[in-house]
Amino acid sequence: MAETPHPDNPRGLPVAVVTGASSGIGAALAAALAERGHCVALAARRAERLAAVAAQIHSRGGAAFAVPTDATDPGAVAALCAAARARGAVTVVVANAGVYGRGLATEVTAAALDAALRDNFWSAFHLAQAALPLLRERRGQLVFVASFDAKKGLPMDAAYATAKCALAGYAASLRQALHGSGVQVGIAFPGRVDTPMIDHVAVPWASPKIPTERAVRAILWLLRHRRAEVVVPWWCRPLWWADVLSPRLGDWLVRVLRLDGSVRG
Ligand SMILES: NC(=O)c1ccc[n+]([C@@H]2O[C@H](COP(=O)([O-])OP(=O)(O)OC[C@H]3O[C@@H](n4cnc5c(N)ncnc54)[C@H](OP(=O)(O)O)[C@@H]3O)[C@@H](O)[C@H]2O)c1
Repeated sequence: MAETPHPDNPRGLPVAVVTGASSGIGAALAAALAERGHCVALAARRAERLAAVAAQIHSRGGAAFAVPTDATDPGAVAALCAAARARGAVTVVVANAGVYGRGLATEVTAAALDAALRDNFWSAFHLAQAALPLLRERRGQLVFVASFDAKKGLPMDAAYATAKCALAGYAASLRQALHGSGVQVGIAFPGRVDTPMIDHVAVPWASPKIPTERAVRAILWLLRHRRAEVVVPWWCRPLWWADVLSPRLGDWLVRVLRLDGSVRG
């Protein structure tokens, strides 16, 4: 029997869940998914920012609803997924929420590592756990937004790189475990993106910040072609390949190109 459309999704559009939708990549991706015919569940902690993103999507004729959520809380994430399922069939879930912090690997504390794992790994894990049953219903797609730091960690990004590596490792295992299930797992590895997250970071000429839209296009490409991974921008790839060939060559490139960047002010 057909489901009765929810007032937030009167056209019965497929539902996409995006965490970290109050800012940066998540807000822009949510708008792009709405333009492409999804009713988008917008999740993040700042309710007023989510309401603004939802209003912008509505003003363009799209469908979206805000679900203020702390993604590090498994109960809140389960409630987010239940709210999404109540609006319609969930076909896309994007684990995008994350927090960046700097700290040299020789000085990083266990507390900083715990916090980075909570914000960047556990938040995505809780979402995957809660969303998988919904995605299995519709052979849906699960995307994890990692970081290029998971391909080549930087000395100053110790905790963040550790957490994004954990995320990439989990996501790659999950992708293989779900082979044949119909659920597709994709991982995005963005380099530096011009969002509030790294406003305070001055970057070298060899690693400029790309516009948010460019990162969003890469994630949409991943979704459209059901690809396993995307690295964006393209100029991250030579460093990655050099590092696969010889990690010491990769280390040298990080040093001579000063890829660590610095904090402004
Ligand atoms: N910018 C870059 O250079 C870059 C590069 C590689 C990867 N990434 C990754 O891209 C993703 C998006 O980052 P961005 O650049 O768009 O940064 P951003 O503008 O700072 O957005 C981060 C988003 O994550 C949300 N968030 C953080 N902790 C959360 C929590 N506990 N529960 C729910 N939401 C939470 C924030 O919302 P609230 O504060 O409202 O909760 C915000 O919406 C992150 O995973 C980041 O690691 C960014």
